[in-house]
Amino acid sequence: MVQAFLSRWVPLWLIFASLILVSCDSNGKEEHILSEGELRQKNYIRKIPGKDEQVPEAVLSKGEVLIAYAGCYDCHRIDKKSKGPAFTDIAKRYPIQPAYRDLLARKIISGGFGSWGSPVMVAHPNLSMEDAQTMVYYILSLDTPS
Ligand code: HEC
Repeated sequence: MVQAFLSRWVPLWLIFASLILVSCDSNGKEEHILSEGELRQKNYIRKIPGKDEQVPEAVLSKGEVLIAYAGCYDCHRIDKKSKGPAFTDIAKRYPIQPAYRDLLARKIISGGFGSWGSPVMVAHPNLSMEDAQTMVYYILSLDTPS
């Protein structure tokens, strides 16, 4: 008797409960209305979604040193826009993934423009791909709390 009751009603309740869960989920999103400033900031950064790869601490500190010696701070600041975008803004835009690491490393080596609406970044043809990748890891790590 009890068993018949359970086998009849439990599946129905499960379906019902998951329907409620699904509808709550879709209602809960995007409640937060952005102010104009936040919107502009958001468009400016145009964050690319993706999971961050874990990077060993030793790689990050090597990147930090390489950047200090390569003259990047002539045009970049850690957290302020200068001639080039702030490193923290670059970090917000790109997830730490091999594809973006290589894209940015190549851009550092050959120079470029157009991603940030700012002037041109000079080429750094003497940098090795490996050093450029290490620099990128350091830059992209700047938005993750350590
Ligand atoms: C002459 C000034 C200048 C120097 C020196 C410079 N940068 Fe840049 N950098 C820029 C500018 C300007 C941009 C934005 C380019 C754009 O809008 O695509 C930029 C963009 C970048 C980006 C983001 C590129 C993208 O497509 O999002 C990275 C990463 C970067 N720089 C790293 C470096 C590193 C590392 C160094 C040192 C080796 C360096 N930069 C030296 C001016 C410079």
